[in-house]
Amino acid sequence: MQERTADELRQAALAVLRESDPAAKAALARALQARAPAPDPSLQLARPEGLPGRPDRPRLVPTLQVPKRSPFTTEGRAALLHAIAHIEFNAINLALDAIWRFPGMPADYYADWLQVAGEEALHFTLLHEHLQSLGFRYGDFDAHDGLWTMAERTAGDVLARMALVPRTLEARGLDATPPLQAKLARAGDARAVEILDVILRDEIGHVRIGNRWYRHLCRERGVDPITLYPELVQRYEAPRLRPPFNREARELAGFSEEELAYLGQSGS
Ligand SMILES: [Fe+2]
Ligand SMILES: [Fe+2]
Repeated sequence: MQERTADELRQAALAVLRESDPAAKAALARALQARAPAPDPSLQLARPEGLPGRPDRPRLVPTLQVPKRSPFTTEGRAALLHAIAHIEFNAINLALDAIWRFPGMPADYYADWLQVAGEEALHFTLLHEHLQSLGFRYGDFDAHDGLWTMAERTAGDVLARMALVPRTLEARGLDATPPLQAKLARAGDARAVEILDVILRDEIGHVRIGNRWYRHLCRERGVDPITLYPELVQRYEAPRLRPPFNREARELAGFSEEELAYLGQSGS
């Protein structure tokens, strides 16, 4: 990796995104967060081949081929934790990608996404440690290949990225976490429940960051955030919103009354 990437946030983020070893990537992301070099928003960085850096395993398979397992066996619980760790690994990549790829944003935008990258790295690390305590490692199970797809699709437009990654995919994580915690609690895994508490708290912040920059970009372009959203979902074939919704977390994450009311319509 080039020496000079250490001096500028967006180039440094791209270098971390290219790292393929998950533990090293998580450590580098947290170190970058601690170092927090200033971004140069004017840089137009060329897209290198082979993004994101990732290990040979897990094998990536279509979503429907990832088997559902019971959390009441150690292996089943490990598979479940592995699936969440995989989401967090991808989330590190998505946050780093938001930093290097999009020029011309305010300095706060890059600072926000650096915070997300650092927190996703912590989430991955906590889950991976717990997974290892059960005798498994990241890579031991197949994983689904859908998460990076939305990054690819929205690579040409930061507005679509903000609409569909943090405030759609990460917001679905807010909905999914409490039922998952209940399942893990029934399986007697108090540590996993605790880790998911940390994740849920941080993810509210990530969705909030998505809402902040989605609205900023809508204002800048003179478009209405409410009417634009369903258009973007359709144009980019993003997943539809599906109940049950975590309304409390979504409210904390800065969705407006109008947006929360929309959930009521799409949920019926
Ligand atoms: Fe996360
Ligand atoms: Fe996140």
